[in-house]
Amino acid sequence: MTRRFKAMRGTHDILPEEASRWRLIEEEFATICIRYGYQEIRTPIFESTEVFERGTGFSTDVVQKEMYTFEDKKGRRLSLRPEATPSVIRAYLEHNLDKRAKVLKVFYMGPMFRYDRPGAGRYRQFHQLGIEVIGTASPVADAEAIVLLWDFLRAIGLKRLKVRLNSLGCEKCRVEYSGIVKSFLEGNLKHLCQDCHERFARNPLRVLDCKQKKCKAVVAKAPEIGEVLCQPCRDHLEEVKRLIKLGGVESYLDARLVRGLDYYTRTVFEVFHEASGIDNSLGGGGRYDRLVEDLGGPSMPAVGFSAGMERIGQALEIDGVNLETNQSVDVFIAPMGGQAFEKAFELARDLRLNLRVWLEFDERKIDRQLRTASRLGVRFTVIIGSDEISRGIVKVKDMTTGEQYEVEQSGVAGWLKKRLGGTDLE
Ligand code: HAM
Repeated sequence: MTRRFKAMRGTHDILPEEASRWRLIEEEFATICIRYGYQEIRTPIFESTEVFERGTGFSTDVVQKEMYTFEDKKGRRLSLRPEATPSVIRAYLEHNLDKRAKVLKVFYMGPMFRYDRPGAGRYRQFHQLGIEVIGTASPVADAEAIVLLWDFLRAIGLKRLKVRLNSLGCEKCRVEYSGIVKSFLEGNLKHLCQDCHERFARNPLRVLDCKQKKCKAVVAKAPEIGEVLCQPCRDHLEEVKRLIKLGGVESYLDARLVRGLDYYTRTVFEVFHEASGIDNSLGGGGRYDRLVEDLGGPSMPAVGFSAGMERIGQALEIDGVNLETNQSVDVFIAPMGGQAFEKAFELARDLRLNLRVWLEFDERKIDRQLRTASRLGVRFTVIIGSDEISRGIVKVKDMTTGEQYEVEQSGVAGWLKKRLGGTDLE
């Protein structure tokens, strides 16, 4: 027996019904981003591994354990992108986009890859929607990013959303905090998991992000960054909080929120759906004022977020939101006999200027064809055989009433359009 292949563990097919819902969600995201003044950017799915080592951060689990890294035929070290933020900054620098305008605002969507243990809401190939704003240190940009994400999730019908918010401080307070956390963890090393011993050596702040129960118990007692934030960082956080409240976002401060990537400075946030749980965030992001410089550019502040399509899909399911997609067909064309295919082919092309048309490919009995037409849910079936061709007409069957009409071939497009109203094919 020949082998049946299956999609690789941690990957999934997006079958037509789901894909049509995804398209609606992606369109809503693009529409909202454009209304907020963002433009789309598309970057490659793989990059030089160094982009992520330096961007996402060498000490992160994403780079240490989760990247799909390989050598190409020329021995270059490449990685499938685990996230898009470093790629966007790489493109920003490569194309001197800083010269075009003071601030660049872009959105993106597409697949990301992380070799994580697959589980509820965790995949190895997953799909993100995101934005990046490069060139401003203003808290208004942080607030705009959070409000945009909030508006988008609400627009597709999600309720019971919450934003958790924190500040990781600037270079100065972060270094100070890192020292405090290091001394605290030193006395608790024996209670930490093996991975956290390595995290401790590479970057003690990463321990705060561990999902292991025993590490969480230690971290719960760790000093909080709020205790060491400098006044400008406090003011920045207060302003973001104030603005998003004006925008109707429900948020709370969470001193334990550190995020799993190295580049964050000041604002970090995650949006979660109460029923999906805090560890299954729908989206997250924050400010990253050093990353452009870390990737070889000038000192340039930036902020952004990414949201996960799969998790959004799950949350919609939990909330019972049924996104209305319209993938139906308007007209079925049933050619009768070999010579009718040419006329049917031409007619299908004409009708497709305004209508959704299914053209039968094979020679089949009319009752079989009508059965297919019913299954497709079409309103009208156009029947063409040699008799109709010689008389310059077609037969049109109204599938809801069963009535049949004879319509001039030259006028059939107008006849159908009048009854169906034409379809907005945009
Ligand atoms: P992140 O928190 O790593 O941030 O991912 C953002 C979102 O992607 C998560 O909230 C989740 O919905 C989804 N996600 C992440 N990993 C998986 C997975 N294995 N399976 C399914 N969904 C997943 C970033 O990626 C940053 N680039 C966000 C950002 C943009 N920060 C600044 N700008």
